[in-house]
Amino acid sequence: MSKKNIIVTGGAGFIGGNFVHYMLEKYADYRIVCVDALTYAGNLDTLSSVMNNPNFRFVKMDITDRDSIFKLFQEEHPDIVVNFAAESHVDRSIKDPGVFLRTNIIGTQVLMDACREFGIERYHQVSTDEVYGDLPLDRPDLFFTESTPIHTSSPYSASKASADLLVLAYHRTFKLPITISRCSNNYGPYHFPEKLIPLMIANALADKPLPVYGDGLNVRDWLYVKDHCLAIDLIIHQGRVGEVYNVGGHNEMTNIDIVKLILKALDKPESLITYVKDRAGHDRRYAIDPAKIHKELGFLPTTRFADGIKMTIQWYLENKGWWEKILSGEYQNYYEKMYGDL
Ligand code: NAD
Ligand code: DAU
Repeated sequence: MSKKNIIVTGGAGFIGGNFVHYMLEKYADYRIVCVDALTYAGNLDTLSSVMNNPNFRFVKMDITDRDSIFKLFQEEHPDIVVNFAAESHVDRSIKDPGVFLRTNIIGTQVLMDACREFGIERYHQVSTDEVYGDLPLDRPDLFFTESTPIHTSSPYSASKASADLLVLAYHRTFKLPITISRCSNNYGPYHFPEKLIPLMIANALADKPLPVYGDGLNVRDWLYVKDHCLAIDLIIHQGRVGEVYNVGGHNEMTNIDIVKLILKALDKPESLITYVKDRAGHDRRYAIDPAKIHKELGFLPTTRFADGIKMTIQWYLENKGWWEKILSGEYQNYYEKMYGDL
């Protein structure tokens, strides 16, 4: 495989950070340039072990800053761009949609304009299964396929869907060589503790209430983060230009089952579970049909949920410094606003 220079945006976040580690380990001769604005969700500690790697460069930059992004492309002439950078938390998008539109839509446009200006082998957009809206609980036979209509529920998912449409439009109109992946819920190391699994682990360890929205019966389709990285690796190298690929592993679980499993693993009582007001517009069920990526690219998840969740809980136990630092900082203000009454 020939050498590649890859710009990874959002690489100080959860999935982008895992992807940076994955790529540097797998491809000894690739150069990875991480572009991240270091918002509340970006954390340089996630990248500390690769900061001195000669194949790695970190650039603190906002993807909506057109001049700076163009200068960077002029300097780096990337072969591939993988765009993870986004505002990613549904609850925050309900409280303050504006920044979601700016980063998730305008940021995507700026990156693609830079790709057009300087030329690119592949622009890959990391999207989400949330663009398909939700499925009913009483129809377990239904799954999201790549041709399921876009039908969004939150400002977050609407911003991601808008970006997807723009990416497809740049392909059709400007022949930009793009691909899009729409993955289900990820879990694993470096997951920001505002999201369900790491939040429940952190609260359980601190004997704090575990806030479960609504009836706790909403279903998510969980995939270990390294398997998402593997899927993107396959798509950027072997995926067909212009195509959308759903990514998932048929692992549907209710929120309440996940919460109970975490409590059991940490030997904490179920009395910590506290049902709270439901999320506005809360999607009921996500379920990905991953047949296309399996058939075309041979993708199959490598980590079973039973193993992945054990590894994840162990990681949070062994890396308390990583998340306790987050909990003691700016995130604390958000937590007070969100769960202050508990
Ligand atoms: P995250 O919130 O953990 O990380 C996002 C990163 O983007 C952070 O490092 C942040 O600093 C950076 N960022 C935000 N705004 C920026 C800007 N304007 N310019 C440059 N950098 C900026 O998110 P995540 O969970 O790792 O998600 C990454 C991508 O994957 C997102 O596009 C998300 O929509 C998508 N996705 C997430 C999941 C999931 O389960 N977490 C599933 C499917 C798809
Ligand atoms: O499906 C992919 C999406 O998964 C990604 O596009 C998003 O970026 C990512 O954040 C995630 O969205 P969700 O809304 O599914 O994830 P979250 O961890 O916020 O919530 C998972 C479920 O748990 C959801 O049904 C809401 C519920 N929940 C969440 C929190 C934070 C609770 O019951 N209590 C909570 O405190």
